[in-house]
Amino acid sequence: MRVSPRRVVKHDASVEPAKLSRRWKKQRARAVAAAKISGPTAVSCTKDNSFYFETYKCPEKMRDVMTECGVVDKLLEAHVKRLQDKAWSIFPYPCIGMFEFVKFNLPGYRSYPRILSLLRSGGVYLDVGCCVGQELRYLLSHEGIPASQLFGCDIEPEFLEIGYELFMDAPGAMRLEAADIFDDEAWTENEMKQRCAVVHAGYFLHLFSYQRQLLAAKRLVGYLERKKGNTIVGRMIGSRAPGEYTHPTVGIMMRHDRESFGRFWKRVAEETGLKLDVQCDICESTVRISHDGKKFDHPPEEKATEITFSITIV
Ligand SMILES: C[S@@+](CC[C@H](N)C(=O)[O-])C[C@H]1O[C@@H](n2cnc3c(N)ncnc32)[C@H](O)[C@@H]1O
Repeated sequence: MRVSPRRVVKHDASVEPAKLSRRWKKQRARAVAAAKISGPTAVSCTKDNSFYFETYKCPEKMRDVMTECGVVDKLLEAHVKRLQDKAWSIFPYPCIGMFEFVKFNLPGYRSYPRILSLLRSGGVYLDVGCCVGQELRYLLSHEGIPASQLFGCDIEPEFLEIGYELFMDAPGAMRLEAADIFDDEAWTENEMKQRCAVVHAGYFLHLFSYQRQLLAAKRLVGYLERKKGNTIVGRMIGSRAPGEYTHPTVGIMMRHDRESFGRFWKRVAEETGLKLDVQCDICESTVRISHDGKKFDHPPEEKATEITFSITIV
């Protein structure tokens, strides 16, 4: 079937700029007609073309406009949301559900200046249960701590992979590797023992029952280089009524108040033969409110608190 070029020209006439040359109009009409006869394949969309560029780098002024229009924020939020869902399907930790994995908590610790001074004088940092490794990226990019001093482990290798997707980086000098800290064969047992100035346990110790927590704490102490000032820092959910509680996804969690926390670390110190100074700040509120107003809190009977701690060799 042949379509008359004239008919096509007539059809498009209203959108044609007024001064199009006759020759140009004819050429275009022929192309449109060909496309109508044989469908879209008649106009090749191959990218193997000198006038198709593969890569794009946003010029500064365009980035400013895109930022002002909210494009950058929306893309970033969609990116985080997609990875939250991916991480959630691996294990539904509250820290993933409530976007704690995209917060930097370390800089808010009271012990942060001390942590920085240990790292700036060459100390090794190990993040245990680092998940996507956000705190490690903060130390590397914001504080300029050399990658060679930074280590992270997590029992779920997929969380580490999601970390690379999230920060759009790749395995490099900073060592992030899967390890179950209870595993005697883990690389952390072989390579990190008595090597660290700072061990970070963010939202980690509370994942376990009292007995497992004791074992975990002794593992953390085991990573510390035996030197005064070296420290374990972190945070965990506590309780004004200490004891073991059952969480719907995490399971049995031992939660402390100030006294039981002190007794716990006294026992760790006795069993590891170290002298430890125990500091903790207890926040009575554990409420989280989402950006769109959804409110979470632990059941009131659990009397939950949040403990930020530092355990230091003295
Ligand atoms: C609640 S998340 C906290 C993540 C991160 N530290 C933060 O503060 O945002 C606990 C992390 O510990 C990891 N984890 C749980 N058991 C572990 C184990 N036995 N050895 C190493 N990592 C473990 C989990 O996979 C998870 O990423």
